[in-house]
Amino acid sequence: MSIRPLVILPDPLLRLVSDTVVNTDSTIKTLIEDMFETMYEAPGVGLAAVQIGVTQRIVTMDPARGDEEKAPLALINPEIIWSSDTTSEYEEGCLSIPEFYGVVTRPEKVGVRYIDLDGKAFEREMDGFAATIIQHEIDHLEGRLFIDHLSRLKRERVLKKFQKLARREGGE
Ligand code: NI
Repeated sequence: MSIRPLVILPDPLLRLVSDTVVNTDSTIKTLIEDMFETMYEAPGVGLAAVQIGVTQRIVTMDPARGDEEKAPLALINPEIIWSSDTTSEYEEGCLSIPEFYGVVTRPEKVGVRYIDLDGKAFEREMDGFAATIIQHEIDHLEGRLFIDHLSRLKRERVLKKFQKLARREGGE
């Protein structure tokens, strides 16, 4: 297992639509192990493969908080199959947009369909924090970021900040 470097805003990779996983082979298994290690190290509660530069539809997450027992979950080709009319608000952050947070309103409950490493299909209901995480991560698979859910003013402000940082680090 290894910790992989995170893709940071405004890297155009973050805007790509990820590909459906066709074969859940050993490279996918290794990728998922690396995603968990990278996510826990950060630390973060969710990670999409594109955030370590792999544009495949894979998500790792762990909604456990505080001293709760770890609850790791890897989802391959996850999709939202229904969502509740009721909404909840969470202050979200993203490992690709370090140290920036914003309140996002999303459906409170969702139904998620996905496959595991054995290619076995699952459907599960998620609510609360887990529902927010999976919606945030599936957004990543579509090239969407949580800042897209904020006001245009806030989004442009954070974009400018990260563009400036990238230029500085690029030595331009
Ligand atoms: Ni994110």
